[in-house]
Amino acid sequence: MPQNVHSTSDTPQDWVAFWNRPNAIYANRRNLEAHFACLLRDLETYLPEGGTVLDFGCGDALAAEAMAARCGTLYLYDAAPAVRQRLQDRFHNHPRIKVLDEDSLGSLPAGSIDLILAVSVLQYIPREDLRGLMHRWRGLLRPEGHALIADVVDPHTPMLQDIASQLRMAHQHGFLLAALLGLGRLAFSDYRRIRREAGFSAYTPAELIDVLEAAGLSAAPLPRNVGPTPHRRSFLARPTDRKAAVQSADEPALKVQ
Ligand SMILES: C[S@@+](CC[C@H](N)C(=O)[O-])C[C@H]1O[C@@H](n2cnc3c(N)ncnc32)[C@H](O)[C@@H]1O
Repeated sequence: MPQNVHSTSDTPQDWVAFWNRPNAIYANRRNLEAHFACLLRDLETYLPEGGTVLDFGCGDALAAEAMAARCGTLYLYDAAPAVRQRLQDRFHNHPRIKVLDEDSLGSLPAGSIDLILAVSVLQYIPREDLRGLMHRWRGLLRPEGHALIADVVDPHTPMLQDIASQLRMAHQHGFLLAALLGLGRLAFSDYRRIRREAGFSAYTPAELIDVLEAAGLSAAPLPRNVGPTPHRRSFLARPTDRKAAVQSADEPALKVQ
């Protein structure tokens, strides 16, 4: 039976449902392209040449082909079925990009991943599920592997700071009007209700590092965030006990419910 590494509490289904339908987080195609170009630029030094990468919560993954050109295998996983379907449509013939569903994610062999990426995803995962998920990631990592957790929201971040960052990027990349309209659409959507009811998981660096350490991962903040939101934070983690990294994935199936 595949292990359940996806967050399955009732509340996050609201976030999955939110991401499963069109939403106004990204203003338009140009916004998405600028976003993924920035991610690719920031991630390049972390991508293991010829290695195996799992992009967890990958979204539309516009940089996937460029990432796969450097890695041996790129696994893409997103909790939203509609996102996965779009990825599957694009990549079903790609020799090195594999789109995973929950079962195939749960069936990945222990100790098989060089880099787990999670960019701008933690906020949608309930705090009570994080510990179990990190433990599972540790089991998936090769002894010399890393997890790069990026765009982590600090609890003291006012929403206005995120808005200002989006508008700055929109101004630089020529989609300011679309960004303003997008913010209006977001304000009148169910985004704020879901954020209030399902939660928006935010961590201080010390909190996140503690959770990672409890899962057997040693982590440190990176000097600058990966991606276009400079006030958020990125963390690089690796198995603390590199010999035990593979062994931990043999522990009983994780149920993050
Ligand atoms: C802000 S987007 C980030 C996408 C991509 N990583 C990026 O940086 O552009 C968040 C993504 O996380 C996915 N997501 C939300 N909750 C998730 C969960 N519990 N497990 C995996 N993915 C999740 C959403 O479907 C969405 O595609």
